[in-house]
Amino acid sequence: EKGTYPHYMLKEIDEQPLVMRKIIQNYQDGEGALEIDSDIVKAMKDADRIYIIAAGTSYHAGLVGKQFIEKLAKIPVEVHISSEFGYNMPLLSEKPLFIFISQSGETADSRQVLVQVKEMGYKALTITNVPGSTLSREADYTLLLHAGPEIAVASTKAYTAQLAVLAILAEVTARGIGHEVDFDLVQELGIVATAMEALCDDKEEFESIAREYLTVTRNAFFIGRGIDFYVGLEGALKLKEISYIQAEGFAGGELKHGTIALIEEGTPVIALATQEFVNLSIRGNVKEVVARGANPCIISMSGLETDEDRFVIPEVHSLLTPLISVIPLQLISYYAALHRDCDVDKPRNLAKSVTVE
Ligand code: F6R
Repeated sequence: EKGTYPHYMLKEIDEQPLVMRKIIQNYQDGEGALEIDSDIVKAMKDADRIYIIAAGTSYHAGLVGKQFIEKLAKIPVEVHISSEFGYNMPLLSEKPLFIFISQSGETADSRQVLVQVKEMGYKALTITNVPGSTLSREADYTLLLHAGPEIAVASTKAYTAQLAVLAILAEVTARGIGHEVDFDLVQELGIVATAMEALCDDKEEFESIAREYLTVTRNAFFIGRGIDFYVGLEGALKLKEISYIQAEGFAGGELKHGTIALIEEGTPVIALATQEFVNLSIRGNVKEVVARGANPCIISMSGLETDEDRFVIPEVHSLLTPLISVIPLQLISYYAALHRDCDVDKPRNLAKSVTVE
């Protein structure tokens, strides 16, 4: 039930800190260390390459998950859109492991790939919010998101839950292989939960950003580099699906190769700047669009901020920033949709789970 909330989406955004804490609890052993079923860790260790298959928001979580797994466990990862993979399968490695990410566990495009790779004799792990869902039953292994039912069509808490579970999977696999992990993920996810709370308490700020940048515009761009780019893709999808504003996420450096032609006087450009090693270069990209008239909204992280930033998120571990930086984007999309009189929880043309090809 949505209780006192006007929309499920807002309730589900607010639930994210709690979901983080539930995930930490559910994946801890008696001593407080993170733990994953040993068969899953073995399947990860045995793989020479991991193929993540997903659609929509879950695909965007997969892109960040690739960074987690490659940086911590040092296993190469490819991320594929399920509807493309089935018809256009890449050359596979010798010992692939397939990871399906699906909130509902029912997405037909993803299931089709699962059936194919099972027929080929490969192992599959499903990361889902729904125990007993089709993708969970048909895979060899399942990891649950523990996010509680997600009712709003626009996925919010499932995305951050997917990121947290992928981070845990990467960390436990890394330790299983014997790679040193130089931070305490339990502690860092706790810091993430606290930062999420602070952002959820700042709704007025995001409402005012939505009012200022998105009330009348036809389009909007999200830019970032590295994992900020992937979060930008998710921010653009959120905005498109519930506010019907044409929105696109771009890699900061790619703009000048064509997309910058779309920048006009007043075009909103939301830039994420949470990564120290690309802080200067993304700010350079913001200057490029401002010179063409864009209305920039820089969202940076504490420690990396400058006077020109519109919002500064609390500092969290540099790998985990997507768990935090997405929350302003979820809330900005929510308020933009509200201001434009859109049906936030049930946008036109969309269904919560897409069970047709
Ligand atoms: C976006 C959204 C969709 C889903 C996609 C995959 O907010 O909800 O893009 O992420 O349809 O759904 P699942 O994760 O259930 O496979």
